[in-house]
Amino acid sequence: MKKTIALTLAAAFIAASAISTPSRAQDAGKVDFEKQILPVLKESCFKCHEKEHEENGKVKKPKGGLRLDGAAVIMKGGKEYPNENVVAGKPEASWLVKTMELPESDDLAMPPEGKGDRISKANIDLIKKWITEGANFGAWKGVE
Ligand code: HEC
Repeated sequence: MKKTIALTLAAAFIAASAISTPSRAQDAGKVDFEKQILPVLKESCFKCHEKEHEENGKVKKPKGGLRLDGAAVIMKGGKEYPNENVVAGKPEASWLVKTMELPESDDLAMPPEGKGDRISKANIDLIKKWITEGANFGAWKGVE
């Protein structure tokens, strides 16, 4: 009798967990670009990698031809590494994160030496995870 109850409970529990697993659970645990990565780029990269605009009467162009303020332009990449700024599934081929890992003395280290703090290891790992998971921007499009 006791055994039956235990089994019934176990079955009920399994069924309940199956039901309480909505399709969105697929996304649970995945990195959320807009919430977790965009703030890092905004803080450390935007001042040099935004759409061409005027600042104090001067035209500011995105450095290296690279914009990081929109999903499409992030994928498009810059002058030297077009289509290799973010290579979905391949953080080791993605310059967005490779430049963050270069030693500060390297010419391509981002942000450039003296132009901002290094990106934390935790945030670099998060960006790598996001790229490994397929570099999904969700609903975020950013500036076109
Ligand atoms: C103070 C300005 C400045 C900041 C801040 C900055 N960059 Fe850059 N970035 C540059 C310049 C200048 C170049 C062009 C370098 C060159 O051609 O040697 C560049 C080039 C790049 C490139 C190469 C693009 C290509 O395909 O040619 C990448 C990738 C990059 N930056 C990523 C970043 C990331 C990621 C951040 C934030 C962590 C960042 N940058 C912050 C100035 C900046």
